[in-house]
Amino acid sequence: MKSDTGIALVDLDEDGVDRAFRADVLKGLRQRPKAIPARWFYDEEGSRLFEQITQVEEYYPTRAEREILEARGAQFAELIGPGRAVVEFGSGSSFKTPLLLEAIDPAAYVPLDISGDFLRESAAALAEKFPGLPVHPVEADFMRRVALPDEVVPLKKLGFFPGSTIGNMVPRTAVDLLRSMRATLGAEEGESPMLLIGMDLVKDREVLEAAYDDGEGVTAAFNLNLLTRINRELDGTIPVEALAHEAVWNDKLGRIEMHLRATRDIDFEVSGERFSMTEGETIHTENSHKFTRRGAYTLLLAGGWTPVERWLDAQERFSVILARATEQREAP
Ligand code: AVI
Repeated sequence: MKSDTGIALVDLDEDGVDRAFRADVLKGLRQRPKAIPARWFYDEEGSRLFEQITQVEEYYPTRAEREILEARGAQFAELIGPGRAVVEFGSGSSFKTPLLLEAIDPAAYVPLDISGDFLRESAAALAEKFPGLPVHPVEADFMRRVALPDEVVPLKKLGFFPGSTIGNMVPRTAVDLLRSMRATLGAEEGESPMLLIGMDLVKDREVLEAAYDDGEGVTAAFNLNLLTRINRELDGTIPVEALAHEAVWNDKLGRIEMHLRATRDIDFEVSGERFSMTEGETIHTENSHKFTRRGAYTLLLAGGWTPVERWLDAQERFSVILARATEQREAP
């Protein structure tokens, strides 16, 4: 399958196995320490479990961001103005996008997502909720520059990237993404696009670790589901019961890390290749960076975005930041 940027989105081999998934898993299991990119969490079950995470007591980011989006509509309208094309990086969730669209009176809505099914579903739901608003879904990998539909190109743009998904990237990748967003939104053509982005805040270790290791065990199930997926799709023999979910705050790097720790020595196969783990060894499965105000601004500036305004929820757990593409001109 190809996106409209011509990038192959899912490249399956003759057995129907996603080649990129297999390559990432094998490479990640060969290296020390072992690590598998977090993007592979999201098969059907993983996406369902993530939805469930957003509703558990300890996972505050979704509720805190919603509170900000609900409370600040009038300020969004004033600072962003009407008539923009809202380009959402990732398919819109059922409540966040409508809150923004209701507030700012946009001219079009463009959800960008690599997963076509999810994209079409959420675009259809949005179109029904906002009759009269042109909705142009684009199936594409937004980590690179994406060509927007012709109808949208002449409009002023607002990028929307909620959920603190930026935090799942290491800083270098986050900066690359912010720069790609600038290009996708037309900053290089002399436009002045804006970006509304959710960024989670640094806070007490206990609160953060609980948010990623909830009492109901939903986040643990989400993390362990990656192993079930590997066993199913890559002929794996990983003894899932011999690995335990772990979420730890890495203070030096400002991030929660999720790992899967072997509770005993194990041997297993994936795609015909043998691997072993000694008791206590981990597979690193996710980073979720948290930001101070200064850290968030520095990241945005490095990515070519100048902060305009920043809002927090009442308990000051989460931030939503509005930024404008920085003009490229000589600086001292
Ligand atoms: C998608 N992303 C922003 C979530 C986060 O908080 O980093 C993923 C997640 N992982 C465990 N819980 C939630």
